[in-house]
Amino acid sequence: MKAGIFITGTDTDVGKTVVAAGLALVLRDRGIKVGVMKPVATGCYGGDTRLISQDAAFLMEAAQNEYPLLTSPSRFRNPLSPSVAATLEKKEVDVPQILKSYRELQKHYDFIIVEGVGGLMVPLKQDYYVANLIRDMGLPLVIVSYAGLGAINHTLLTVDAATIRGLEVRGIIFNRVSVTNYSLAELTNPRVIHDLSGVPILGSLPDIDGLNMDNCQFGKLKEVFQERIRIDKILGGPKNAAPIQ
Ligand SMILES: Nc1ncnc2c1ncn2[C@@H]1O[C@H](COP(=O)(O)OP(=O)(O)OP(=O)(O)O)[C@@H](O)[C@H]1O
Ligand SMILES: [Mg+2]
Repeated sequence: MKAGIFITGTDTDVGKTVVAAGLALVLRDRGIKVGVMKPVATGCYGGDTRLISQDAAFLMEAAQNEYPLLTSPSRFRNPLSPSVAATLEKKEVDVPQILKSYRELQKHYDFIIVEGVGGLMVPLKQDYYVANLIRDMGLPLVIVSYAGLGAINHTLLTVDAATIRGLEVRGIIFNRVSVTNYSLAELTNPRVIHDLSGVPILGSLPDIDGLNMDNCQFGKLKEVFQERIRIDKILGGPKNAAPIQ
């Protein structure tokens, strides 16, 4: 089986797309043929036959990919949890179709970055959650979290949900961490989360200058990602203890 990584988060809006795009930019820079996938997207725009996922468009631009229907096989207009959007729109999340698209993408690219939807326990259909999809894809995962107050609870819950389902957590990335005037929680939480979960901390990202998803602008994302994130660990490098950044 070819390589890849699933990017999940503690919540919606935490920075999964930004992290997935950052990784795509860096790997492409290294000459890796990188593919991207947003298997289920809600809150899409455009005509009913041509719904567009903004996340998928941003990821495809980062990776310079060219198979939109494989990248984003399941799209819904309503900005809701997929199972709810599907019911409302009289459609369904077609898991076999998603897995088929994933296998097809693997033929075109050597490393696939898959962005989840919301967090691990978001229902895609009856008795089937994002966590089930990760297991069916056979991918290890990266958890994107925030570092401020509340992050210990959300991150440990996500790590637990992953490990009890037999998923491999490669590590945690803290996003939008303040570089000046950081709070005491931001300063101390990464270490606490590492100590309590035993999961490697892969680094933290500050607010990126010039990043704009609406216009597909990456700003300094590639450079900052390269400098601050342990890419070797995402790719499954040596499993020694990670330093806290
Ligand atoms: N490090 C960052 N610097 C600047 N802006 C950021 C950063 N991280 C996230 N954002 C902005 O915050 C918003 C949410 O980020 P993002 O879309 O990556 O979250 P998400 O977890 O993918 O959300 P969703 O659950 O909707 O897929 C976006 O508008 C994005 O541009
Ligand atoms: Mg996203």
